[in-house]
Amino acid sequence: MKNFDSTFTFGTATSSYQVEGGASQDGRSPSIWDTFADVPGKVYQGDNGAIACDHYNLYKEDVQIIKELGVESYRFSIAWPRIFPEEGVYNEAGMQFYKKLINELKANNIKPVVTLYHWDLPQWAQDQGGWVSRKSLIWFHDYANKVFEELDGLVDSWITQNEPWCAAFLGYHQGVHAPGHRNMEEALKAAHHILVSHGQTVKLLKETYQSSTPIGITLNLAPFYSAGNNYNDEIAKNNADGYTNRWFLDPIFKGSYPVDMINLFSKYVHDFSFIHKEDFETISVECDFFGINYYSRGLIEFNSASDFLFDSAYSDYPKTGMGWDVSPKEFQELIRRLRTEYTDLPIIITENGASYPDQLMEDGTIPDAERTKYIKDHLQAIAALNEEGMHISGYFVWSLFDNFEWAFGYDKRFGIVYVDFETQKRFFKDSAKYYRNVVLAREV
Ligand code: FCB
Repeated sequence: MKNFDSTFTFGTATSSYQVEGGASQDGRSPSIWDTFADVPGKVYQGDNGAIACDHYNLYKEDVQIIKELGVESYRFSIAWPRIFPEEGVYNEAGMQFYKKLINELKANNIKPVVTLYHWDLPQWAQDQGGWVSRKSLIWFHDYANKVFEELDGLVDSWITQNEPWCAAFLGYHQGVHAPGHRNMEEALKAAHHILVSHGQTVKLLKETYQSSTPIGITLNLAPFYSAGNNYNDEIAKNNADGYTNRWFLDPIFKGSYPVDMINLFSKYVHDFSFIHKEDFETISVECDFFGINYYSRGLIEFNSASDFLFDSAYSDYPKTGMGWDVSPKEFQELIRRLRTEYTDLPIIITENGASYPDQLMEDGTIPDAERTKYIKDHLQAIAALNEEGMHISGYFVWSLFDNFEWAFGYDKRFGIVYVDFETQKRFFKDSAKYYRNVVLAREV
């Protein structure tokens, strides 16, 4: 029996800054990631995305690789600083790249799924406060508007924002992503404006453009478990869940922020007037699907010295090369919870995958058994969930290529296709061959 019927979409994903390179080609201006990567100590070995996979120049060959994989769909993102290299200055040459890429995909029968924001904020916007400023809503509106004007009708689906938690909390609270700030008040403002920008963009597409192209948001979600069977760890687990999941799920699906977290965050933030009451109506606007990036569960313990009383605990689960727990069962629990507590929308797994230290053999093969098993376990979990009626409608492997893994530079390889960054040669890993077979058979 086939596990995946013909309505299920198989795909693979990348993002602009992680693969494109071409950092100063055709009028692109710097993004916050170019700036951040330039600061010593921020990115592993001082790596940056200036060249990355050189996908900007090699996109035609890369589309052939996607075709060979047999997937129906390719998820990529648009680099905002290619489209608006300066405030209010539209760059047609930057848009041309995406038109060419989309045409190439379509000529090969591959559906483009396009993310508007996968973290490469133009540096000019950051210079005026970035997502912390409410002006970001105007900047993002103008950017999305131009992209819709030029590309809606050519793409299969739109994703407004990728992982607001990472963009806001890793970028403005923990300081490990661009722009590298450590300020909870800034982080909450950034998160809020990113969420409002999502809702505003959905309205723009549906109301102004009267478009029927499906649109949604992608969140990174992790189910949390408490390390010990005690009340302290329960509190810690609740806070980890609030910080990572509920702070984003609640406004999107329930139209409010979780009050327990407002109370907790008020330790650092004394004025919440940046949240306008009418924003919730915008953030919770009806979408067509819900995107989830899933990598791992989290095991949590109480720590009175940490900002919000929680920390990661030691876990004896098998780990990926990132040190993340391989946890497909917990993925199923997460999806069931979303179905009971949050949404009936079709769910698309917009990212799932694993980094492991791969070895390119002399014969050009890469025997990545652990990644293959990781993907298989999660596909089996999805097939079982769909039998329960959980309505997961698509799956995108992260990532098509080894690429610039943010603060980890090129040290962490997430690709199912290996990239030799010296020669820009690509090689199918065993996991890519495995995935192709699943896609062709529609069976795991
Ligand atoms: C996600 C990001 C993606 C990639 C994977 C490993 O958080 O969306 O760009 O870095 O993690």
